[in-house]
Amino acid sequence: MCFMPKKQYFCIMISSFSTQLEAWYKKFGRDLPWRQTSDPYLIMLSEFILQQTQIVQGTSYYLRFAKRFPTAASLAEASEEEVLRLWQGLGYYSRARNLHKAVQKVAEAGCFPKDYSFVRALPGVGDYTAAAIMSLAFGEPYAVLDGNVQRVLARHFGIAEPIDTTQGKKLLRALADELLDRQHPALYNQAIMDFGALQCKPAAPLCETCPLAETCEALSTHHVDKLPIKSKHTSVRDRYLTYIYTRTQNGLTLLHRRGSGDIWQGLFEFPMIESDKKLTSKQVDEFIHSSLVKVSVNIKVELIAQDVRHQLTHQRLHADFYCLTLPASQWTTDNGQRTTDNGQWVEEKSLDRYALPRLLEKLLEKMK
Ligand code: ADE
Repeated sequence: MCFMPKKQYFCIMISSFSTQLEAWYKKFGRDLPWRQTSDPYLIMLSEFILQQTQIVQGTSYYLRFAKRFPTAASLAEASEEEVLRLWQGLGYYSRARNLHKAVQKVAEAGCFPKDYSFVRALPGVGDYTAAAIMSLAFGEPYAVLDGNVQRVLARHFGIAEPIDTTQGKKLLRALADELLDRQHPALYNQAIMDFGALQCKPAAPLCETCPLAETCEALSTHHVDKLPIKSKHTSVRDRYLTYIYTRTQNGLTLLHRRGSGDIWQGLFEFPMIESDKKLTSKQVDEFIHSSLVKVSVNIKVELIAQDVRHQLTHQRLHADFYCLTLPASQWTTDNGQRTTDNGQWVEEKSLDRYALPRLLEKLLEKMK
């Protein structure tokens, strides 16, 4: 099933496709805070936040960021730590680091250049984000092609080509470019994205009330639930993490900052061991005595939570969470230094100053 309409019909369909989408959007489109501005910095901020986040959660983060950093210059000047802290809970922290670097390049340029090549070359900006910024902020004719748009096009035009192949991507890109309303690229792009999110939904699309039902190829051939097609299924890796929340009776806890080359770069975490499978309590004890508590003191070890799952794009994390309590005096400052091989001792009551992965926040909630 690869729909190939005759050229003259295709042109008529294209213009009515965008007209109908835009009419739908004017009635049902969402009133989102970044749609009340054409400031390219704020639009870039919203697009970075929405790259892997649902609108509902993303909106509160957008409002918080826009309030704290109303301009590109203000965000560019912030420390990475502050940016990560404000991002905390959104996950996929490389987005925050890339946003920070991208904004620094914008600040260096003096003003936000209305230049596709500049925007596309910014860290963390792919084809989709560049097209969104250029069209929504500058009204330039670039068609967005995200998951929502792919689904709308694959269904409406009956594209049976898998959307993750070179051929499928080419076909959809050509179609997206052809369909774009060049007079109103911002309106059209917002319309098709909202249409995909609200009407032509992945599961249970609202075909009965769809203004495009009459010309929808997938609907007429009963392929709505089959499209779009993907050729590959992505493999997911299981990882087993055992955290030892190490605290002293006088209110200190041990934290270390994660390095590069893995998830959660630059975020803070408690002492942790990773293993091929879940550790036994004996193995946890061995780790505690060989790495964390090398002298003989009274300690208390409690298992707080086990097999807490946390899903990332290609990884499924399984976490066990122990609490290790140490006596007060041994572990406080050592010549004023609070740094050890396992990280630094920080005041437990100041933990919220450190950006922690969402998984650790979930685990800490279990202690309450
Ligand atoms: N998802 C990502 N960016 C969006 C936008 N500007 N409008 C609606 N959904 C989006």
